[in-house]
Amino acid sequence: MSNASTFLDMKRRGEKIVVVTAYDAPTARLEVEAGVDIILVGDSVGVNILGYAHEREVTLADMAHHIAAVRRGAPHVYIIGDLPYATYDTPEQATQSSRILREAGANCVKFEGARPEIVRALTVAGFDVCCHLGLESQHHDVKRRQGKTALAAARLYDDALALDAAGQKFLVLELVPQELAARVTRAIKAPTIGIGAGAETDGQVLVINDLAGITEREFKHNRRYGAVGAALREAVASYARDVRAGLFPAEEHVFHMADDERAAFESLRP
Ligand code: KIV
Repeated sequence: MSNASTFLDMKRRGEKIVVVTAYDAPTARLEVEAGVDIILVGDSVGVNILGYAHEREVTLADMAHHIAAVRRGAPHVYIIGDLPYATYDTPEQATQSSRILREAGANCVKFEGARPEIVRALTVAGFDVCCHLGLESQHHDVKRRQGKTALAAARLYDDALALDAAGQKFLVLELVPQELAARVTRAIKAPTIGIGAGAETDGQVLVINDLAGITEREFKHNRRYGAVGAALREAVASYARDVRAGLFPAEEHVFHMADDERAAFESLRP
């Protein structure tokens, strides 16, 4: 199994790190077969799978449930799991919450915001920590680009350095200008994983529902690599058509009784 130094070495060699989200066992298995380096079980599970309106509704129990499912589908992949909203307010609470995600199968815990004291506490407690700056879905009500002004960029840059000094193992940069992500990537030791942060981060992450074409909405930062939503809808519509027309099940899907058992049954219950 890979560990944090595997990815540090990849950064040093200039090899891109491929990260994608998963929330269930079969998807995780397919992603490993496809060759991903890291699976992120993000709190995006809330809006993408659980039908919640906001990431803030995701609980620690939700995260543990989905991390455990992903771990069953992908026993050997490096998994980053999100600490949900309000589960890392203090170093003690963050440590307690991270234990639950580790027991569920996470190798690394991720949280949003510039909180070096949380990184330090978790690192001392033996956790790999992934930080997350830029758009913070748990804390920003409107999903818009961050770090656009010189001042905002300088603040994010300083936060990234502080988190690095505290011992972060990865930094997710979400919806920030490429110029800023490139500067941060060069300045810090930890690999940066970008989403909507341009092409110069050490790795990229996308939400599986977006890349596979399950999500209806189009996002500027995303590229659809499949039409899984349309394929699923068409498969179910075909099934419904066949059931209604009496075409499913067909003879090849049917089990029959042996002739003697059938005859005996008919005489038992004429
Ligand atoms: O929850 C998530 O999927 C994330 C990504 C958007 C990076 O944090």
